[in-house]
Amino acid sequence: MSLVHEPDYGTPASNAKEQVTLTIDGMKVIVPAGTSIMRAAALAGNNIPKLCATDMVKEFGSCRLCLVEIDGRNGTPASCTTPVAEGIVVRTQTERLKRIRKGVMELYISDHPLDCLTCAANGDCELQDMAGAVGLREVRYGYEGENHTKEAKDQSNPYFTYDPSKCIVCSRCVRACEEVQGTFALTISGRGFDSRVSAGMAEPFLQSECVSCGACVQACPTATLIEKPVYETGTPNRSVITTCAYCGVGCAFKAEMRGDELIRMVPYKDGKANRGHSCVKGRFAWGYATHKERILKPMIRSSIQEPWREVSWEEAIGYAASEFKRIQGKYGRGSAGGITSSRCTNEETFLVQKLIRAAFGNNNVDTCARVCHSPTGYGLSTAFGTSAGTQDFDSVEHADVVMIVGANPTDGHPVFASRLKRRLREGAKLIVVDPRRIDLVRSAHIEAAYHLPLRPGTNVAVMTAIAHVIVTEGLVNEAFVRERCDWDEFRRWAAFVSETRNSPEAIEKYTGVRARDLRAAARLYATGGNGAIYYGLGVTEHSQGSTTVMAIANLAMATGNIGRQGVGVNPLRGQNNVQGSCDMGSFPHELSGYRHVSGDATRQMFEELWAVSLDKEPGLRIPNMLDAAVEGSFKGIYIQGEDILQSDPDTKHVSAGLAAMECVVVQDLFLNETANYAHVFLPGSTFLEKNGTFTNAERRIQRVRKVMAPLNGKEDWEITMELSAALGFPMHYDHPRQIMDEIARLTPTFAGVSYDKLNALGSVQWPCNGKAPEGTPVMHIGGFARGKGRFVITEYVPTDEKTGPRYPLLLTTGRILSQYNVGAQTRRTANVVWHEEDRLEIHPHDAEQRGISDGGWVKLASRAGETSLRAVITSRVAPGVVYTTFHHPVTQANVVTTDYSDWATNCPEYKVTAVQVSPSNGPTEWQELYGELSERSRRIAQQKAAE
Ligand code: SF4
Ligand code: SF4
Ligand code: SF4
Ligand code: FES
Repeated sequence: MSLVHEPDYGTPASNAKEQVTLTIDGMKVIVPAGTSIMRAAALAGNNIPKLCATDMVKEFGSCRLCLVEIDGRNGTPASCTTPVAEGIVVRTQTERLKRIRKGVMELYISDHPLDCLTCAANGDCELQDMAGAVGLREVRYGYEGENHTKEAKDQSNPYFTYDPSKCIVCSRCVRACEEVQGTFALTISGRGFDSRVSAGMAEPFLQSECVSCGACVQACPTATLIEKPVYETGTPNRSVITTCAYCGVGCAFKAEMRGDELIRMVPYKDGKANRGHSCVKGRFAWGYATHKERILKPMIRSSIQEPWREVSWEEAIGYAASEFKRIQGKYGRGSAGGITSSRCTNEETFLVQKLIRAAFGNNNVDTCARVCHSPTGYGLSTAFGTSAGTQDFDSVEHADVVMIVGANPTDGHPVFASRLKRRLREGAKLIVVDPRRIDLVRSAHIEAAYHLPLRPGTNVAVMTAIAHVIVTEGLVNEAFVRERCDWDEFRRWAAFVSETRNSPEAIEKYTGVRARDLRAAARLYATGGNGAIYYGLGVTEHSQGSTTVMAIANLAMATGNIGRQGVGVNPLRGQNNVQGSCDMGSFPHELSGYRHVSGDATRQMFEELWAVSLDKEPGLRIPNMLDAAVEGSFKGIYIQGEDILQSDPDTKHVSAGLAAMECVVVQDLFLNETANYAHVFLPGSTFLEKNGTFTNAERRIQRVRKVMAPLNGKEDWEITMELSAALGFPMHYDHPRQIMDEIARLTPTFAGVSYDKLNALGSVQWPCNGKAPEGTPVMHIGGFARGKGRFVITEYVPTDEKTGPRYPLLLTTGRILSQYNVGAQTRRTANVVWHEEDRLEIHPHDAEQRGISDGGWVKLASRAGETSLRAVITSRVAPGVVYTTFHHPVTQANVVTTDYSDWATNCPEYKVTAVQVSPSNGPTEWQELYGELSERSRRIAQQKAAE
């Protein structure tokens, strides 16, 4: 496999419908109006020399290398800035043009170090290419004059270097930072000869506002901005197209390799979710894959007090199977279960639920989506009939008003955030509904029209009040509702939301949202053109999570904002394959494609293919498994790629549940926190080491391709298959493509999916079947999946988690750009330079009242438990609200979260915990106790790291 070189057409594509015909060097070319001459020529295979142009950013016209002649026009216009026109005749290679280009290149080269042979970009440098393309053979000005070749490098960023001596001041980096990323971290400072690229206020990159997305590195045509591994190891020689394994955006990447060594991950321009962009995690934070703490050999121990013992795969799998059989023999068939992972592939997830249902013989399977987006599944399927977001990410480019509810895209879904910010800079309006002043409320060239800083736990009241304004002010799209929704249900709902108790004025006192802002925001959403809602865990992780999802769906239906580009209801999924793990039948009550296990026809289909009889009763959810373990009836669990001890609420209860089990099997890359309670550890493989598919937040199924052999010797699906065989239920697959074929056979929404199709089209969005053979980018066009859209009455029920004299503050949690989930991967990369520890954000008033200083240790206590961490004093949070992340196990943020959960799905109420904060001297007793256990369990990992 060779290196994939994506063509660079020099300027972005034009979306114009009108076609224009012109002649370039004697060839007739037909392109959309508005296309640059440079792009038109490149599309015809005629690449005009260029330096300052690249098709990821708008044309700039500074280098003067791309000049052309146009018959009948004077001068030599730049082809990158000159649009095509009907009938023009263009020449790209006349004697005059050749002479000018050589002159331009001479000037560049005279101020450039001539170290091509030892330069990191040797062979991958556009300046070098252009010197060749224009036939430069001599530099008349010499190299002795004043130049920049001695300027010092900036090595501060852990992932790339900036070497100003090689800069040609083409401004591609500056434009990429502005247009693609939207951070505006770079400028060209100085004038003329002194002009240079500067990060922030002429700071080192690491100290500037740069978020390390890598867009500038990708745009740079020279070695000025270059990835450190390329500098240190050399240029790659082959690439494999694959999908990021971090968040639910699902960015496509070229994994660029030399031999079996990964040199860099380059965002793939053909990736339909990311369109050639990335964030710091997918682009740079892949070093965990070869981290020395990775466990590569299976291990067992008969009690969690004992040290781990390395064993063969046969012994580990045999031991796990015999333990599960013993447990089920002694305590009953329902005494064991499993957890699938939203980080693993669709195929791996499908196999784990198959193993539980067919080999364990029960439905005790659940997934980590339980703790994040299970309310999305329930809410959207109730309202629309499908448990998924309605749009593709391209849709945001057509939105006029965007409402973000309980999500922080610049940290959680950065590439989507960049696409959104671009649309906002084009003039779309933004409404932010969030207790915190997230970055989108105000950042470079972006300002939300309204920020509704609601009190945590009052989402339903706020969404219902928005509906109140829409209904009572006559802003309902009645034609849409009459045609597409159940009219009687709508009328009942409209009467409910119109009640005075649901008005903005009535809810103001307990939501904290000013009535006039809420009214204005509601009017904007209802009347501002295409209205799109994007939401996150700030919606779902509440005791009324499912209700809020339905309240959001109500807003979209009432205003007719569903069923076309630019509108819709879009959950921003946390982990890379949350959508897929839910689709694959990971919930205890559903088989793949969200079909209830009690449905005889569906179950029979599976029974026939698997030649086994299946239980028709739903099994246990994760919290029920843990409750049953504490009660003594649940004794064994197989956990693939999930760290429930750190990610699930009420850590003490989770640890008590795990400690009460007789066989805990953990399959993971590292000895994670859950593994402290495990008896069998099966080493997992990274996304770089396996084949499969992930499904992102847009329902987009994309290939994950193996770029290197698994260091542990097996892909995760192979391990599940071996465990199943040892349990007496052999499965037969040679490659994950066969698993996908089985998924397609058993799942109507996946019926048209195959590896051949994914390889041919790049990706497809489900439903993909006979009716939609190439997938469905936008759902519910012309009709809802369930028939008529359903308005559900969304009565606000305050959470039982109440503040009071003992716990007067409300804690809410979230994530940060550089870290991912429980941090098991990102903490093992250089990303820790941006976030060494979790900290508690607290408002200055609350800090002052408690004598808390910025950076000082504080105790965070709730009725569930207490932990200690350091404080950050900031007005990003409102008075009465505190906020932290949960990326570091030592912080144990979930020790304080409670066991309250969503009424419909048991999704934990992470976003609302009544707490008290007080000054502290350091870690709590629990943190120290936990630290000791964790230390004991890690002994083997540390020994290995030292070897
Ligand atoms: S890495 Fe991204 S944020 Fe940083 S300067 Fe480059 S484009 Fe801007
Ligand atoms: S750093 Fe690279 S992209 Fe930026 S101006 Fe210099 S040469 Fe151009
Ligand atoms: S973490 Fe998300 S946004 Fe970042 S590169 Fe990966 S998929 Fe894209
Ligand atoms: S590429 Fe057109 S002016 Fe630089």
